[in-house]
Order: sequence, then structure tokens, then C-alpha cells
Amino acid sequence: MATGNPWSKGLGGHESIAGGLLRHLAVVVVSIAAIRLLYTIVKSVHGYRELWESNADGRLLAFLCSIAKDYEPGNNLYQYLLIGPRAYHILHPKNVEALLSTNFRDYGFGCRPAVFAPLLGNGIFAQEGAAWKHSRELLRKQFTRAQYQNLRHFTSTLRAGVDQAAENREFAESFNVAQEGLAKRFRLAPFHFFYNSASFHKACRIVHRFVERYIREQGLMENGQLLHGEKAVDSASWFIRQVAAESATETDLRDQLLNVLLAGRDTTACCLSWTFRLLVRHPQALERLRREVKSVMGDLSSPTREQIRRTPFLGCVVNESLRLYPPVPLNNREAVKTTILPTGGGPDGSSPILVRKGELVVFSQYVNSRRKNIFGADADEFQRERWETGELDKIGWAYFPFIGGPRQCLGEDFVLMEVSYTTVRLLQQYRTIELPEGEPNEPVGTERQKLTLVFSSADGCRVTVRRGRQSEAEG
Ligand SMILES: *[C@@H]1O[C@H](CO)[C@@H](O)[C@H](O)[C@H]1NC(C)=O
Repeated sequence: MATGNPWSKGLGGHESIAGGLLRHLAVVVVSIAAIRLLYTIVKSVHGYRELWESNADGRLLAFLCSIAKDYEPGNNLYQYLLIGPRAYHILHPKNVEALLSTNFRDYGFGCRPAVFAPLLGNGIFAQEGAAWKHSRELLRKQFTRAQYQNLRHFTSTLRAGVDQAAENREFAESFNVAQEGLAKRFRLAPFHFFYNSASFHKACRIVHRFVERYIREQGLMENGQLLHGEKAVDSASWFIRQVAAESATETDLRDQLLNVLLAGRDTTACCLSWTFRLLVRHPQALERLRREVKSVMGDLSSPTREQIRRTPFLGCVVNESLRLYPPVPLNNREAVKTTILPTGGGPDGSSPILVRKGELVVFSQYVNSRRKNIFGADADEFQRERWETGELDKIGWAYFPFIGGPRQCLGEDFVLMEVSYTTVRLLQQYRTIELPEGEPNEPVGTERQKLTLVFSSADGCRVTVRRGRQSEAEG
């Protein structure tokens, strides 16, 4: 019975009581910790599920906007409760500037190179440090040169899109499959190795072989190709030949070319199709644009750079399209050392925030564009005139469809010209472009979307067109 009575143990009994209490306390503490952990995991799983499901019905970005809304009117950051490292979603332009420019060196891509490697190998999107600097310098030179060229090369691009040989089609299809695979791996981030399907790797192989065959057919790795021969004069292949001249191996060249293709192909296509989706849903804007194009270049078949610069309303339309539908709507960085974000912390959200090494910072032009305290009460609307009132003159780091800072998109000028040129040509070729009867005309941002690395409308961009020049229509 003595064992049942702690007092019978004398001093030892006291220890035992104290020990028992401690143990009890420890159990309580551990249980609380376990419950909290469980809660965090359940919340995380719930968070993941919400993320996953919202993406499955094409509503991931709307979901991110809805959680960012809780932080109106301050532009604070949101901390995701996900498994893995802490992740902040930054909204404040000062934080975007710190991440992409001022404290650029404190951040890296984390596991992105490994995620992208099967398709993109050792190209600019997967590189950091010295290798990235080398690629950037190499590609920058070619883009700068492209700025002095006339716009004829866009014509051949337009035609190439129309008549694709079967082999081209296989390449295009594989490129899509491979890109979707990359997007899936990207979303799984640290667990990317789970996504390694045979179809993904097969698609990467087909894409690689296609580019390698092209390199050999064109003799791109052979010395002396650069300076003589008819082909060297053709402006469309000039870019490729210059990159070839500075690539050490066929694989290096293949990787660079694929990176440029990835950067330029789908982003531009997304921008164009969102722009036309918006235009057919806003016929007054389309009419005004037609009038501007007609007054500056009439029905000329090939607008020049100079003429495109004299179409400011076209610039407003493209800017507004990129604001509402930035082709890369969601992006992130990983801290490579402990650093700070200048604002968003403390009780009133104005103190700096500590970001530890290994933590993630997510940024999204799509979400930021819909912040009413940045773009005003009509932030959700296609309000192209906002670009001509002067209210956005100091917009700074609230508008970053081309990133900015040391990793600013090299193709910015190129793609703006390509989109403008193509828009002008389509307006000149079709005297009417309008929303087909019965096609849904839902408010901006509520349509179904498809998010891979870029994002597009899940229902495509359907329009009704009638051929004939503007003047014929009027005549
Ligand atoms: C479009 O946005 C850029 C900022 O990225 C700005 O410099 C430019 O002036 C804008 N264009 C128009 C026509 O407002």
C-alpha cells in the first residue's frame, strides 16, 4: 500500500510528486505541441487541397486574390501555412523592389534549376551566378541588335504558324507536354522528383532531338558559317547564328535556344489572346484602336517601328492587358541568406520583416494588379484609359509584367513590338472582329483559366471575323 501513498516515501516522495507534476506538465506541453502540429498539418493539407482544387477548376489566381483581400487596406504580406519552408506572399511595391532589385543578391531560385533541367538543361532560366551572367550578356546583345531591325521577320513568324508540317506538329505537341510537366514539377517544388512520368521524359527527348537536328541541318556549329553565305543576311536566323557562334557545344546551343523559345513563344501567344479576348468584350476600345491604327498607318501591309511608336492608345491597351493578364502571373524566389523585406511586419504592418535563409517569397503581378489601394476602385476592370491620365506615371514596382531589376525580361521591347505588330495586322486584315454570338462575356478575372508556367484562358479566345480591309468595308 505504501507505494500508493507518496508521503510514505519521505523526501523521496516529494521528489516523486514534483517529478510526476513535471512529467504531467511535459505530457501536456507535448500534447499541446502535437495538437498544434496536427492543426498545422490539417490546415496545411486543407490549404494544399484548396490550392489544388482551385487550380483544378482554373481558379487558382482568384483564390490567391481572395486571401490577399484580407489584407486590404494595407499592402501587407501573407504567410502561407504550408508544409515545408515558410513562404511569404508579398504585395507591397517596396517589398517587390527589395526582392527583385535592391536585395537581388539575397535571393536565388532554390530547386528551380533541378525542376527545369529535364527540358531546359543549362539555359538562362535555370542558371544563376556566373553562368547566368554569361548567358544574359550573350542574349542581351542579340536583343539589342534586334531593336534596330525592321519588323519584316514577324511576317515569316506569322506564316510559319499557319502551315505546320507533321514534324513541326509533333515538336509543338511535345513542347506543350514537356512544359506542362515542368509546371507540375514547379508546383511540387521541393518534391519535384515525384513527378517523373515517362510521357514527360519522352516529350523532353523529342524536343531535344528536334532542336539538335535543326542545329545540324543548318550547320550551326560549323566554323565560318557566321560571316558568309546568304543565310547570314536573313535577319530571322541572325539571332540564332550569333548565339551559335558563342556556344561551346551543341548541347549548350540547344539549351539556350530552347530557353529563348520557352520565354518567347507562349508568353507572347498568351498576351495576344488575352488582348483580343478583352478587345472583343470591349467594342468601344476596339473601335478607338481601329481609328488610331487607320489614322497612323492606314491599310499599309507592314507597319514600321516608327509608326507603332505613334500609336499611344495601342500602348495603353497592351499595358492594360498585361496588367490584368500578365503572362507569368505567379513567381517566387528563395532566400539564399537571412535578409529583410522592408515593410509589412509589426502590429501596424510597417516594420521590416525577417526572412530566413531557405524561406520562400512569392510575388504575383496578377494579384497586385487587383489591389484597389494601388490601382483604385476599378482595379478589376479593363480600364485602358487609366494609362493616359497620368495617374500611373509613378507606378514603379506595382507594375512589373517584365520583372525588372537585374533579371528584367530581355525580350521586353521585342515582345511589345511583336504583339503590337500582330494586333495592327489583324485589325487591317479583318474589317470586323467581334464576340461570337452565345460566347460568355463574364467579368474580367472570373473566366476559367489554365495555369502552367504561363497562363491562358481555359476556353480559348473565340472571335468572329470578317475579311476585308477597313476601307473596303467603308467603301
Ligand atoms: C506602359 O507601361 C510602361 C511601364 O512598364 C510605361 O513606361 C509606358 O509609358 C506605358 N505606356 C503607355 C502608353 O502608357
